[in-house]
Amino acid sequence: MEKQWIDLRSDTVTRPSEGMLKAMMQARVGDDVFGEDPTVIELEQTLANMFGMEAGIFTPSGTMANQIAIKLHTRPGDEVICDETAHVYLFEAGGIAFNSGCSVRLLKGDRGRFTLQQVQEALNEPDNYHLAVSRLVVAENTSNKGGGSVWDIEELRRISSFTHQKGLGFHLDGARLFNAMAFNGTQPRDYGVIFDTISICLSKGLGTPVGSVLLGSKHDITRARRIRKVLGGGMRQAGYLAAAGLYALKNNIPLLKEDFRRAQTLGKALSELRFVDEVFPVESNILIFRLKDSMPADRFLNYLKAHDILALTFGPQTIRFVTHLDFTDEMLAKVVKVLAEWKE
Ligand SMILES: Cc1ncc(COP(=O)(O)O)c(C=O)c1O
Repeated sequence: MEKQWIDLRSDTVTRPSEGMLKAMMQARVGDDVFGEDPTVIELEQTLANMFGMEAGIFTPSGTMANQIAIKLHTRPGDEVICDETAHVYLFEAGGIAFNSGCSVRLLKGDRGRFTLQQVQEALNEPDNYHLAVSRLVVAENTSNKGGGSVWDIEELRRISSFTHQKGLGFHLDGARLFNAMAFNGTQPRDYGVIFDTISICLSKGLGTPVGSVLLGSKHDITRARRIRKVLGGGMRQAGYLAAAGLYALKNNIPLLKEDFRRAQTLGKALSELRFVDEVFPVESNILIFRLKDSMPADRFLNYLKAHDILALTFGPQTIRFVTHLDFTDEMLAKVVKVLAEWKE
């Protein structure tokens, strides 16, 4: 029998539920490169309508959705402004340089969240030809490296008015935007008016096996189809995958609150342990904490692994736990018990 791990490494480890698999098997499909897959079209339109945006495009990954957006907004030699912890900068294999030929201006935000003032200060003077042209600002909500931190929507609104006034693009890496909305009650349409483009990931908290959708104007998404093609992301009968996305939008959004609740319980349990130095505030399904030097990170991870629990390091002495659809209350109880039973 397959070993039953309690896997807290990421919310990408979930397996499709029976209901999701059934929806996938029953999908109506066609050739999406010809624009003929009815289920892909339905998913793209459903998300675009939810966010009050004109159009959407299904992509095989969140990375591709972000990279297409960056390519849409920039030309080689331009500069992208983002937080120093941004996924687009740290974890997309240098894609900003590779795909778009842009330089990056990094901001030191608060757990992934920067301010309007920081953006204003980072902007290059447009007439100074020694400098790269500042062309695009990218925000990430929730911020992964920031420990699932959620942006204040008012700050996003302020940055949006500024970017529009200056003619810059504003892209949201919304890989976990539904987790942010579960935290603060904001609505998809709140974000649709703030950003020029938004990438939504279906294979993280929402639990599908594959896929993201990039949202934007009709004009941008038409251009995005060519960019997706050149990146090798044109898929044929992708409706089987899109059906999982439609199922997730119908069934899994309310469950994100449960992931948040379980992460809060874990955060509380961790903050009571003598060998834990600091637990970052828990705002969604990602939990980051630092161990005291007396507890080396690999020793801690090995202890968990010996009890069938998997987690990841996220920097020196820093551990990340991520809750998700396949992490149940029984598993939560076991993790809390195993943590409390640690003996020096
Ligand atoms: C914030 C954020 N953006 C984008 C991605 C990229 O998603 P994918 O792994 O589907 O390329 C991730 C993946 O973990 C992420 O955490």
